Amino acid sequence: MNIETIEQRIQQQIPHCITTTKHQGKKYVGKVRDTYDLGKQLAIMTTDRLSAFDRQLTAIPFKGEVLNRLSAWWFQQTQHIIANHVIDLPKSNTMNVKKCHVFPVEFVVRNYITGTTNTALWTLYKEGLREVNGYTLPEGLQKNQILPQIMITPTTKDKDHDRPITATEIIAEGRMTAAEWQQTSQAALALFAFGQQQADKNGVILVDTKYEFGKDANDNIILVDEIHTPDSSRYWLKASYHQRLVQQQEPENFDKEIIRLWYRQHCDPYNDKTLPAAPEELIIKVAKSYIQIFEILTQTDFFKET
Ligand SMILES: Nc1ncnc2c1ncn2[C@@H]1O[C@H](COP(=O)(O)OP(=O)(O)O)[C@@H](O)[C@H]1O
Ligand SMILES: [Mg+2]
Repeated sequence: MNIETIEQRIQQQIPHCITTTKHQGKKYVGKVRDTYDLGKQLAIMTTDRLSAFDRQLTAIPFKGEVLNRLSAWWFQQTQHIIANHVIDLPKSNTMNVKKCHVFPVEFVVRNYITGTTNTALWTLYKEGLREVNGYTLPEGLQKNQILPQIMITPTTKDKDHDRPITATEIIAEGRMTAAEWQQTSQAALALFAFGQQQADKNGVILVDTKYEFGKDANDNIILVDEIHTPDSSRYWLKASYHQRLVQQQEPENFDKEIIRLWYRQHCDPYNDKTLPAAPEELIIKVAKSYIQIFEILTQTDFFKET
């Protein structure tokens, strides 16, 4: 499809963005997804909501569909590494999954030092942090630089606030057994290596990501939640990465940073009660970037496949 048609298609979709959903079962509303409990199964609906600053900022046409279909694609591609929760995709933005007992741990895996939030590795490094989950970071790292090794920096997955945690604490607090930690952390590293290879083949860098694992009804450890979506992962364009690093420019990316920036410039997104509506132009740009990363990674036409 040519660029102009894609933009038109996105624009026409703006009034039809999906921000609320309805389905049978007890409903749990997350930041982006609505989950319905059907007993042994869950129906996870990925909406078009875009969240940042701990609130919903706006809606992006086709975002839910991009995330759901991209996640499904990665789940399928990685079955040889570890089994996952997918049962089927009844709709393009809905996934039926096996309900699991999810370990209260987020498996953050990273190969670059970056980020801007208070808890980002780059922010903490700048403030002097050198020891993370048993790894020692060398002096003199530059923002967005590759790390000496791929690191797993887990956080807790708690109701109120996620905090960094070490493997030793995860086991001591009873979040997982040592054997479970061994199995899941090995799987996380293998998934990340596979993701990096696939992305690299198509000219993008898988910078970092987050996995969740759970136990199914038969006590098997499987991959749950989402995998390698632009909401759970950072992707940078490989072609311009090195030059931009040398020139101390931010890498070309596929994340929601441009929306965050616009809101910071036009209001106080942390404190204002109501927020301005983002311009249509910007919404279209962000939607295009979500569709683009889907097409780059899967090497398929997003609109043709529906
Ligand atoms: N197979 C599964 N079994 C049980 N819970 C799951 C499974 N897959 C994902 N989840 C949970 O469902 C929720 C998905 O909704 P999401 O919008 O991502 O919520 P959040 O805002 O908490 O991240 C997450 O809490 C995730 O841990
Ligand atoms: Mg989530």
